[in-house]
Amino acid sequence: MASDVSGHGAQVLVASNRGPVSYQVREDGSLHPKRGGGGLVSGLSAIGPDAGALWVCAALGDGDREAVRRGVGESGVRMLDIPADVHADAYNGIANSVLWFVHHMLYQTPLEPVFDAEFRRRWASYEAYNRAFAEALAEEAADGAVVLVQDYHLTLVPGMLRALRPDLRIGHFSHTPWAPAEYFRMLPDDIARQVLTGMLGADRLGFLTHRWAEAFTDCCERFAGGLGGTRVGVHGLGADADFLRTRSREADVEERMAALREEIGTEPGGGPRRTIVRVDRTELSKNIVRGLLAYRQLLDDRPQWRERVVHVAFAYPSRQDLAVYRDYTAEVQRLAQETNDRYRTPGWTPVVLHVKDDFARSLAAYRLADVALVNPIRDGMNLVAKEVPVVSDAGCALVLSREAGAYEELGEDAFAVNPYDVVGTAEALHEALTLPAGERAERAKRLAAAATALPPAQWFLEQVRALREPAR
Ligand code: G6P
Repeated sequence: MASDVSGHGAQVLVASNRGPVSYQVREDGSLHPKRGGGGLVSGLSAIGPDAGALWVCAALGDGDREAVRRGVGESGVRMLDIPADVHADAYNGIANSVLWFVHHMLYQTPLEPVFDAEFRRRWASYEAYNRAFAEALAEEAADGAVVLVQDYHLTLVPGMLRALRPDLRIGHFSHTPWAPAEYFRMLPDDIARQVLTGMLGADRLGFLTHRWAEAFTDCCERFAGGLGGTRVGVHGLGADADFLRTRSREADVEERMAALREEIGTEPGGGPRRTIVRVDRTELSKNIVRGLLAYRQLLDDRPQWRERVVHVAFAYPSRQDLAVYRDYTAEVQRLAQETNDRYRTPGWTPVVLHVKDDFARSLAAYRLADVALVNPIRDGMNLVAKEVPVVSDAGCALVLSREAGAYEELGEDAFAVNPYDVVGTAEALHEALTLPAGERAERAKRLAAAATALPPAQWFLEQVRALREPAR
């Protein structure tokens, strides 16, 4: 497959805010690289090392900036040292505080958003940051290269790059939902148009589900005079079954399973307790607070579950530069504490909450899951919903928000919830917990099959191939 892709000659470039590697300055002054994972990493490695692929990303922290200055780097990666204040305004001020809020419909509208002069100032940084990417890509790309631009951070890049390099095949992929037109038009008209025409500079746009692709198309028809010649495609990123199954059997995962079993404890009669597992980055869209409220409702409505179930909730820090994120994390911790204070018994802690990121422990929780709780307000896909059924030892039941992209593919075998309906979610948790073992295993098998239908490498190669098809 790799030679098939590289055999067609064109070089492949990827552009994203966060790159595949980040650097930390050690006490002795040396730089320590940390490599990340994810769909793009597997995709690029599937192309093979000979294809001359290049990943353009932003320097995010001091370590990254130092690496750029010292000329330290990995082959195939170019980090852009965009001025820190420009990057902060673009990333925190626009991408995470405006575009993320719009696409996930997170505003509390009586007071926000306010598109004032400060917003315009930040927007100028967002433009400058997008321009830095477009210029670097224009400089690096070989004749007729394929460029895959990622996400809401870089919506203006396709248009800017098209103007600089009309010879390139440009794709853009959205890993988030797309806002419905009625919500999207909250943005000032000129900004909304700029975002849409920026994206429409691409030959082809990719989305995770039909729902988001249709919302985007609708926005273009209403606010930008249609799609023009840009094609729109859907690629539902799946879980990486081979990697997950292998990785989750390693010794560090087993160790963490033992530690978690200790924390979970056993029922008064000695039998194993049930687990409701959730693993999230603590983003405002993940709805962890209502998840905890639903669990509390379950303990209120169905006292038979007291001492027989534990809610294992991992809420890993995300975007802690933003005060609303820090407040949200604090609220998650407060609510978990309050629930434990109210219900705990000498041998039972109702909520086991961990906030320190630990991938091996996440896999351990997946393996122990009886029920997976995935209840986002809105989510591009949600890979946790796809990963837990693949990894869980006994086959888990899935309580899944109908607003997650994954619902399009997994809805039939999941317990669907309206993420705002706490009573309904509590009821779904009860049903999931009482699902007979045989049926649960069968459902989990079907969930795992649907979840792994489009593994990351294939997801990536499909997009490269589609971009190379004769255009327009
Ligand atoms: C989530 C979204 C992606 C996005 C990423 C950025 O995972 O699904 O669309 O690119 O967040 O996260 P970061 O930590 O870089 O802000």
